[in-house]
Amino acid sequence: MIKHRNFLSVCGGDGCGKTTAIPTIARTLEEMGEKVIITREPGGTPLGEQLRAMLLNEAMHIDTELMLMFAARREHLERVIEPALRDGYVIVSDRFHDSSYAFQGAGRGVPVERIEALDHWCGGVRPAHTLFFDLPLEVADARMGGRKLDRFEQENFEFRARVRNGYLQRVEQDPARFRIINANQSIEGVQLEVAETIRRLRSNP
Ligand code: TYD
Repeated sequence: MIKHRNFLSVCGGDGCGKTTAIPTIARTLEEMGEKVIITREPGGTPLGEQLRAMLLNEAMHIDTELMLMFAARREHLERVIEPALRDGYVIVSDRFHDSSYAFQGAGRGVPVERIEALDHWCGGVRPAHTLFFDLPLEVADARMGGRKLDRFEQENFEFRARVRNGYLQRVEQDPARFRIINANQSIEGVQLEVAETIRRLRSNP
């Protein structure tokens, strides 16, 4: 699968603060003269958003969950990501394929061969760079306290620990693609680190 320089993804455990930091990524890129589209997974297309609502709310078999994630991704690639890349945009996706390996693979226990098979079948471009928001689980827990939790966020500590290890394994397997953001600081601190990381990435690919 081909990595596209203008395709960036953002990932991390639930409560890591990536969604708050994504506008900073877009702003930094725009300051560097880029046209930017922010999108998300699961979702990003009308059908994908319907799949997202099901995935976040309805109980289902773990294989169904995995296949729906990839179904949404196929649509997303076809209708949003690939056309935007052809038109010269930089795409910033709030989650992409790493989250399937971390949540459905490490978290739920789906064998990695099944995920790789679907990943391969799904095809399309892959991000050249991925920001991983790293945050101790206890801190993420405290941040999520009080908000309405979806099906993944309601999972127990052990599940979320497996997800975190799943991400760390992905980082280990492809260190050149990942940039680790220390999410255990103030919002302003995270924003500064994110902006600096993006500037360095883009001026020094
Ligand atoms: P998230 O990105 O955390 O959205 P919000 O910012 O609204 O909380 O929510 C998406 C959820 O979907 C998240 O819990 C992780 C899960 N997910 C998977 O399990 N597998 C995947 O492949 C993707 C893309 C997401």
